Amino acid sequence: MADIHIRNAREEDVDKIFVMTKELAEHLGEKNTITVTPELLKENQMSYKCVVAEGKVTDGSSSKPLLGFALYVYRFDGWEGKVAILDSMYVVPEHRNKGIGSALYTTVAKDVVASGCSYMEQLVHNWNTSAQEFYKSKGAYDFSETFNVHAFRIPTSKLEEVSNPDIKL
Ligand SMILES: CC(C)(COP(=O)(O)OP(=O)(O)OC[C@H]1O[C@@H](n2cnc3c(N)ncnc32)[C@H](O)[C@@H]1OP(=O)(O)O)[C@@H](O)C(=O)NCCC(=O)NCCS
Repeated sequence: MADIHIRNAREEDVDKIFVMTKELAEHLGEKNTITVTPELLKENQMSYKCVVAEGKVTDGSSSKPLLGFALYVYRFDGWEGKVAILDSMYVVPEHRNKGIGSALYTTVAKDVVASGCSYMEQLVHNWNTSAQEFYKSKGAYDFSETFNVHAFRIPTSKLEEVSNPDIKL
């Protein structure tokens, strides 16, 4: 871990973060669902927070590689006030199980605690037991089991219909 530097993402990191986001989507079997672009990531920098794990320069490269990232957002929970959502967490395959994910998580945790949040949560696929074990090892618990919830989403096309019942899309 001595060669790894965890820091806040900067604008010049966006292209590498985007590449890792696509790798994460592929890992999760969702590569065709990504509609975010590097431009959107740049335009919306104020809407999310992101920390990256920077490695050391390797032979033949002029810049330090990014080996992982964690992207999170704050939102207001009507019951518990300010809370955090860990949206994306990724470490490149060849650098997993070296403590990088834990270092990213620790940095996010410090910021979330300092921000006065009541909790942080994240969605994890049923099959992604290694990520579930990772979060559990930090103290997270599976609240979907406790609350027996389903996560509902409505696309904007449907919201347009709802917001203007006269329009049949
Ligand atoms: C989940 C993920 C981010 C974890 O990152 P990581 O860098 O592998 O995590 P860590 O190395 O910190 O911890 C993983 C395990 O490695 C081992 N480990 C940690 N530090 C270690 C070290 N220095 N030496 C050897 N093993 C170590 C531990 O067994 C640890 O398990 P623990 O959490 O019970 O202690 C990573 O596996 C990943 O990117 N997975 C694919 C994408 C994904 O599923 N993301 C989550 C979507 S919800």
